[in-house]
Amino acid sequence: MADYETILVETRGPVTLITLNRPQALNALNAQVLADLIAAFAAYDADAEQRCAVLTGSEKAFAAGADIKEMQPMGFARVYGENLFAGWERVTATRKPWIAAVAGFALGGGCELAMMADFIIAADSAKFGQPEIKLGVAPGMGGSQRLTRAVGKAKAMEMCLTGRFMDAAEAERASLVSRVVPAAELIAEALKTAEAIAAMPPLATIANKEMVNAAFETGLGMGIQFERRLFAGLAATEDKAEGMTAFVEKRKGVWQGR
Ligand code: CAA
Repeated sequence: MADYETILVETRGPVTLITLNRPQALNALNAQVLADLIAAFAAYDADAEQRCAVLTGSEKAFAAGADIKEMQPMGFARVYGENLFAGWERVTATRKPWIAAVAGFALGGGCELAMMADFIIAADSAKFGQPEIKLGVAPGMGGSQRLTRAVGKAKAMEMCLTGRFMDAAEAERASLVSRVVPAAELIAEALKTAEAIAAMPPLATIANKEMVNAAFETGLGMGIQFERRLFAGLAATEDKAEGMTAFVEKRKGVWQGR
């Protein structure tokens, strides 16, 4: 397992658990965290034994945002010239599924990182927010787009314009998170969910992820075409033959990933 400076990575069977580990800065996302996450997600994607990942933080903070101290001296020329934050697209390029398990603060870039996950499971202690406006800026890692798509214009606009935090109960009502669990059970619940995903047929897993994501990138007609083509492709897999035969024979399917 590679050594990382700002994250901890461990494998539990087919599940990769990635833990943000900059407690002195409430897991603020600096360039090193980005580099570590890019490497860790690439390694996860490349490892055929690994089938689902969980990204988490600490009890107090999933991540309190992009690193304000790192950004403080940066003007337009650096932010624009270096295309600050573009590297996060390498994290969202992960093909295999990953879940964000969020306890405590998920603010600014921390909220945006959670929203890059395929879905979020929240502890009852979770607090989501896009408070960048209070720093004279705005979301920079996709928050204005992903939050709006997740919770709709009214809540997204209010959160971005006021910087107010959304607690876990409101986040669940607003469909920002798939569900809320007691803080003490967060990691166990996220791992259990990841194990369930890890037990699914591999090609169908990637196809399901691509289909749902297509709903955010295309109109309804194109999205349904995409779904139908991918469904037809799955019909050609051995796992489809096995899955349907296993159902008819009243037994569990055994997946080959082809
Ligand atoms: N960047 C850098 N350091 C941070 C940080 C951040 N985003 N958030 C917290 N820290 C540091 C603090 O500076 C502090 O360090 P020191 O002990 O060296 O002073 C340490 O983490 C602990 O933080 P606090 O003492 O502030 O802890 P608290 O419990 O009193 O408050 C908090 C917690 C409300 C989350 C508060 O830390 C806070 O408001 N943080 C900033 C939140 C924020 O504005 N996030 C958006 C950042 S901009 C962004 O993300 C841009 C983008 O869209 C990509």
